[in-house]
Amino acid sequence: MEIEIARVDAVVTYDSRGRPTLDVMMVSSNGNVGRYASPSGASVGVYEAPPLPDGGILAARKLVVEEVNRILRGFRYSSQEEFDSMLRRIDGTGRYERLGSVVSLGLSFAAADLASKELGIPMYRWLGGPEKPVFPRPLCNVLGGGKHALNRSIDIQEILVTPLNPPSYRDAYVSAVELHREVAKVLSEKDHFFNGGRNDEGAWVTTLSDEEAFEAVWEAVDRVRSDLGVKFAVGVDMAASSMWDPNDKLYIYRRNGLYMDREEQIEYVVELVRKYGLSYVEDPLHEDDFPGFSLLVKRLGKNVLIVGDDLYVTNLSRIKLGLSERAGNGVIIKPNQVGDITHSMESAREASKAGFAVVVSHRSGETPYPHLAHLALAVGADLFKVSPVYGERVVKHNELVRMEDLYGSEGLKPMRWAG
Ligand code: PGA
Ligand code: ZN
Repeated sequence: MEIEIARVDAVVTYDSRGRPTLDVMMVSSNGNVGRYASPSGASVGVYEAPPLPDGGILAARKLVVEEVNRILRGFRYSSQEEFDSMLRRIDGTGRYERLGSVVSLGLSFAAADLASKELGIPMYRWLGGPEKPVFPRPLCNVLGGGKHALNRSIDIQEILVTPLNPPSYRDAYVSAVELHREVAKVLSEKDHFFNGGRNDEGAWVTTLSDEEAFEAVWEAVDRVRSDLGVKFAVGVDMAASSMWDPNDKLYIYRRNGLYMDREEQIEYVVELVRKYGLSYVEDPLHEDDFPGFSLLVKRLGKNVLIVGDDLYVTNLSRIKLGLSERAGNGVIIKPNQVGDITHSMESAREASKAGFAVVVSHRSGETPYPHLAHLALAVGADLFKVSPVYGERVVKHNELVRMEDLYGSEGLKPMRWAG
């Protein structure tokens, strides 16, 4: 079946940090409406597609309401690939340098939303997912620092947890929320300055040192395990590109006053993993250090997921490069890093085929749309990296809870790396 576009429109709106984005609206000739607004990052990789065109957000809106609307009026598509290749033709640069990802991803997801409404099917089915999908496991930021907390909390950007034994997405999500609450209780006992403050993603902010913070999270994990019987794996996003000083070639831990060269950083990561029993490490090294990621996989990769975010920026050619070198054993998929759904799905599939784990992820500045949940189902993601609280995040978990309830599930993805 073909979907015919009657009109495309856009309004400047604001993301969860109050920064401008574009609410894209696409109307079909049958009168259905598809919508989306792209999120934005704070620890942005240098290889990401630019979010905005020259001229900023107003120029982005003008592009949609004038040029894109003129071209897409009357355009018909019968698959997401067909729509996205039209989008690439309109852009003409190969990486959305002219449109910006706020425009391109806004249109791409609005088209997917519209198609699912026209066909009366959930979006993950439009994107090729099975009727009854396997669900990812939630991967939730519970204690945060770095740029997401104005560099006033721990230096490591995120301490994350993933529940290991709940049988359903609903149970997994509820236990992650419980753990997030328990972390606050532990912090109020151990950190005299803790006042319930949270960062951009809703993770708690603390004055404890990085190492004390790990102990606090493990304390909460132990308590939830004895109260509810739920086991968790613990991990980190080091967001090392944000710590890296390319001139001095050092990783800078501002709060702890530590300076580390590449070798020291590698040893520090290995030590953290061993000392705190980590099962997941994202961006342990900066965005150009493919060999460093390979080295860490050799040393830790059997029981630990080593995941590239700024390293890969969801980009298929960078991922292909990394797969051949085994630079990590997992990839982050953030659709706005490459600017359309099709490219994001190709990247996820390629990584998955090579045995890499696929982690579909939110951004720190999010919008209140659930669409990301459908992308995770369609690509059969292993992990769904979205914080457990704040409305713009909860809406994404709720979408998975709803899909599980409405269409059933083949269970949750096994967590092959939690040793
Ligand atoms: P960002 O952070 O959205 O600010 O880039 C998330 C991450 O680094 O994973
Ligand atoms: Zn990251």
